[in-house]
Amino acid sequence: MYEIIEQLEEKRGNALLGGGQKRIDTQHAKGKLTARERIELLLDSGTFEEWDTFVEHRCTDFGMEQDHIPGDGVVTGYGTINGRLVFVFSQDFTVFGGSLSETHAEKICKVMDQAMNVGAPIIGLNDSGGARIQEGVASLGGYADVFQKNVMASGVIPQISMIMGPCAGGAVYSPAITDFIFMVKDSSYMFVTGPDVVKTVTHETVTAEELGGAITHSSKSGVSDLAFESDVDALVKLRRFVSYLPANNQEKPPVWPTDDPADREEMSLDTLIPSDPNKPYDMKELIIKVADEGDFFEIQPDYAGNLVIGFIRIEGSTVGVVANQPMVLAGCLDIDASKKGARFIRFCDAFNIPVLTFVDVPGFMPGTSQEYGGIIKHGAKLLYAYAECTVPKVTVITRKAYGGAYDVMSSKHLRGDVNFAWPTAEIAVMGPKGAVEIIFRKDIGDSEKIAAKEAEYREKFANPFIAGKRGFIDDVIMPHHTRKRVARSLAMLRDKDIENPWRKHGNIPL
Ligand code: HXC
Repeated sequence: MYEIIEQLEEKRGNALLGGGQKRIDTQHAKGKLTARERIELLLDSGTFEEWDTFVEHRCTDFGMEQDHIPGDGVVTGYGTINGRLVFVFSQDFTVFGGSLSETHAEKICKVMDQAMNVGAPIIGLNDSGGARIQEGVASLGGYADVFQKNVMASGVIPQISMIMGPCAGGAVYSPAITDFIFMVKDSSYMFVTGPDVVKTVTHETVTAEELGGAITHSSKSGVSDLAFESDVDALVKLRRFVSYLPANNQEKPPVWPTDDPADREEMSLDTLIPSDPNKPYDMKELIIKVADEGDFFEIQPDYAGNLVIGFIRIEGSTVGVVANQPMVLAGCLDIDASKKGARFIRFCDAFNIPVLTFVDVPGFMPGTSQEYGGIIKHGAKLLYAYAECTVPKVTVITRKAYGGAYDVMSSKHLRGDVNFAWPTAEIAVMGPKGAVEIIFRKDIGDSEKIAAKEAEYREKFANPFIAGKRGFIDDVIMPHHTRKRVARSLAMLRDKDIENPWRKHGNIPL
């Protein structure tokens, strides 16, 4: 008996070494942790239950029959983060470059299936050279099996991808389907075709980092939701991120204890809006002052900064925040901001997370680049997402809410549940200058008359009371009461239950 136990220990010891000490040292030399070290950091200490430690590939080509490493390049299993169940797969670059074989894919599919069966998030730590070249189409089939499961799990359990090494070719499409993609700076990259192919086809010279590094994807393409400094930084922040999410689409988000009173007043908010309507201010100040303990987990901070998104908690419960940012492009909605907001709102809606919207928007961004880029369809995504959304929706208009952008930003007309305005709100078809230049076009040379008409328009329309008269605004509130009023509204809406009409699926303008 002892002998058998010793053999098991020896086998497991071998498996834990993955591709061997030399390759582990190479991994460390690149500033990267190993697949198992990453899991240790991500999960609560000692909670990891590993599966399929002894699985090996079945390939017999190109000498692979001589080369078997237990686990086959991916460590899979489950454990807890802050006591809550999550499933994990972590690709092991020390084993065949973390490349995906048929059996490697089967291991990933197994944990995905179990995550779906019990309703818990799945987290992928990606570090892979892509399809196992020696296996050919068997590997491609394995990828497609994972893609299919990603699609079936979408909107059912949260799926998170942390890119911690190479992720290239068709391999990028599994993370692309998941809800969030995070990357590690300087050690991870994602692209459909690498720098060499790019050079051959388009004659562009570009490094892997420029083409698909963490900075590129978190600031230029918007593919990545956040870029972290190192493996350790990424895994610590990922633990925090998971704490905001419910385990599945049947659950409400977790409620964490808080000492921050829901009726806390923030007098400084009364002076947040500058007296000059064209002067910017930082919308993040409002978000932080409304949030429990000032804690805001911002997503995509470096992409489409004109729209701020992320998670806060109010009375301990997760709330998704969407806010125009007057500091960037005056808070205008453009293509990137619309896509960013729409995807986030749909995530919140799928996972029962209420949406809190702060509005200060002069309108949609004008210009040929926006029109040629399809702002009509992309802007409609944001509208569609808000209109389709059935979770509690609370909206606060702080200043401008002009034109179509007023309608889109969670207005009463798109089933906003509670819509507040600050006394500084300006709700109208357009700003005073633009409006007067259209209505009084023939008087444009008469600057005195134009100025008078502008003042009249401002007096008449650039306030919250016209909308208030029609019930489009539920109340005009004091800025310093914002947290209290939002908290009460969310408490009132806790058991909100509305359904959209049955359909196979809607047809969001993609
Ligand atoms: C098999 C692979 C591999 C792969 C790497 N390795 N990628 N083995 N299949 N795809 C092995 C290497 O042979 C090497 O083995 C070990 O992993 C480490 O690789 P290195 O090249 O030494 O590491 P590094 O210098 O860091 O370079 C990493 C890399 C490079 C840039 C990822 O390995 C690379 O270019 N690999 C090929 C990438 C690729 O073209 N993949 C297919 C993409 S197409 P030894 O034994 O020497 O240590 C694709 C299609 C998916 O993925 C389609 C889905 C629909």
